[in-house]
Amino acid sequence: MSLPLPRWFAHRGGGALAPENTLAGIRLAARMGFAAVEFDVMQSGDGTPVLIHDETLERTTNGRGLVCETPDARLFTLDAGNGERVPRYADAVAACREYGLLANVEIKPATGFERQTAETVARRSSELWQGARVPPLISSFSLEALEIARDLAPQIPRGVLFERVPADWLSTVRRLQAVTLHCAARHLSDDVLAEAQANGIAVLCYTVNTENAAKSLFSRGVSAVFTDRLDLFVSETSAYKGLHLGG
Ligand code: G3P
Ligand code: MG
Repeated sequence: MSLPLPRWFAHRGGGALAPENTLAGIRLAARMGFAAVEFDVMQSGDGTPVLIHDETLERTTNGRGLVCETPDARLFTLDAGNGERVPRYADAVAACREYGLLANVEIKPATGFERQTAETVARRSSELWQGARVPPLISSFSLEALEIARDLAPQIPRGVLFERVPADWLSTVRRLQAVTLHCAARHLSDDVLAEAQANGIAVLCYTVNTENAAKSLFSRGVSAVFTDRLDLFVSETSAYKGLHLGG
């Protein structure tokens, strides 16, 4: 399967320029001309897939406690920054479809919720992205989650996500029928890159927040990077639509 890959993904929605994993972030990325966004999806206490990175609410919202124990009636009243709400996955998909963004949907299960989060995200993804002009790319650090995505939503492309790429990564990619390899930029070796290139697997690196680092990775053969610094790469995005920071 060939997947058109933009070079830059806005990390956690709108990177550092908007509250992370919010609709405001996704909108900002689109307005800045980014063609792709990455966000993290976890289940609420009611089993609703929502955009959030941490298992706990404290860092990114004004709430307290575990996301997986927080009912929707409470979760959706919280402030996720600048008055933004924690978005439902369904609302993020609608925004991405509206703006024609490629979404890297990172399944981010709370510990012990791998199976049920992956089942929910896979099933909902099949419904929500049906007929989309730009299909999403599902990734996860959880190989169990990716197995479930492969089985329940085989038509949606998958990327295997590692911090450090293990020696047997290629057999994992094959077993999961994945099309991309995602990893931490600082741990990427030339051996892994060469093996990926020889096998037609695109490599995507997180989190790349300087121009020099991006340049060096692209020259080594990396296909795309996840960045928090949307401001650094805005002039290089394909459809710069004009940026009006602060309103
Ligand atoms: O998917 C790439 C990157 O988002 C993985 O790390 O912790 O920011 O979700 P994290
Ligand atoms: Mg992520």
